[in-house]
Amino acid sequence: MLFQKPSRLRKTASLRNLVRETRLSVDALIRPIFVIHHNKRLKIESMPGQFYFPLDEIQQTIEKSLKLGINGVLLFGIPSMKDEFGSDTINDNGIIQQAVRKIRQSFPELIIITDACFCQYTNHGHCGIINKDGNIDQKSSLIKLQIQALSHADSGADFIAPSCMLDGMVKYIRKALDKGGYEDKGILSYTAKYASAFYGPFRDAVDSAPQYGSRKSYQMDPGNIREALKEAQMDVDEGADIIMVKPALPYLDVIKEVKKQISCPVAAYQVSGEYAMIKAVAQNHWMDENESMMESLLGIKRSGADIIITYFADTAARIINSKS
Ligand code: PBG
Repeated sequence: MLFQKPSRLRKTASLRNLVRETRLSVDALIRPIFVIHHNKRLKIESMPGQFYFPLDEIQQTIEKSLKLGINGVLLFGIPSMKDEFGSDTINDNGIIQQAVRKIRQSFPELIIITDACFCQYTNHGHCGIINKDGNIDQKSSLIKLQIQALSHADSGADFIAPSCMLDGMVKYIRKALDKGGYEDKGILSYTAKYASAFYGPFRDAVDSAPQYGSRKSYQMDPGNIREALKEAQMDVDEGADIIMVKPALPYLDVIKEVKKQISCPVAAYQVSGEYAMIKAVAQNHWMDENESMMESLLGIKRSGADIIITYFADTAARIINSKS
């Protein structure tokens, strides 16, 4: 005789809604946006449905997200020129600085997060300044990163998101922000950023693949989870406000463990490959796009992510709003 009958609670939509353990909220979504110097928006081939936005169209597209309830954006810039040092990153008239100023003018309350790195701004495609031996020069990269962070803050960014996986990056940025009078501006650290093949479509989009070698000497090895906890603890000690695990889907166990052990909001980044994978399969009608998208976002939430950075932000918000 069975007294427990789990299917009793699955009979109708209202019952399933009643006992659902995890819910997605639009409040938790952050939309990544690519900004470019151009006169009209351009499709990103490797990420169907995503665009490079010219400065003149950026307010318009953000307005749409805001209306859906999305309150945060993560900005990536495509510079007009690349060089050895990624000079556009520290130029007050660089692509990101211009974009942030423009967005801030129109949206005083929007959470503006800027990706702070060098790879799409340098001709070698690595995430820092390169020394004579072809390796990243820690010291000069950190100093350039401080200048970059400060110029993002000067332009009006609320959070700086260093993604270069340089040891000490959070500490250096925190110091620079405090010294610049920006004690209230935060750091969203790409804490556990794995050396992942899932960044492929993004690298294609921003032309940032390393010209030689790989990122394996600075991004994390996919087999490691204790190391992620070590990185997370270090980032918190250095002053990070929010820590990130990236990619999301192949690393749900990492999100869960970081959430359990570290008392700081945890963001998960559903990266370009995770996005493009769903898009490509759905385009072939092998899987329902909206359902697989919502299921993957729910999985990321269930694993413990407080915040989800996703290229699906607008679409997911529309679906969440239509149900509430
Ligand atoms: C820059 C950066 C990358 C991503 C975010 N910031 C690429 C990389 O590290 O190669 C990837 C984002 C995505 O794949 O959606 N360092």
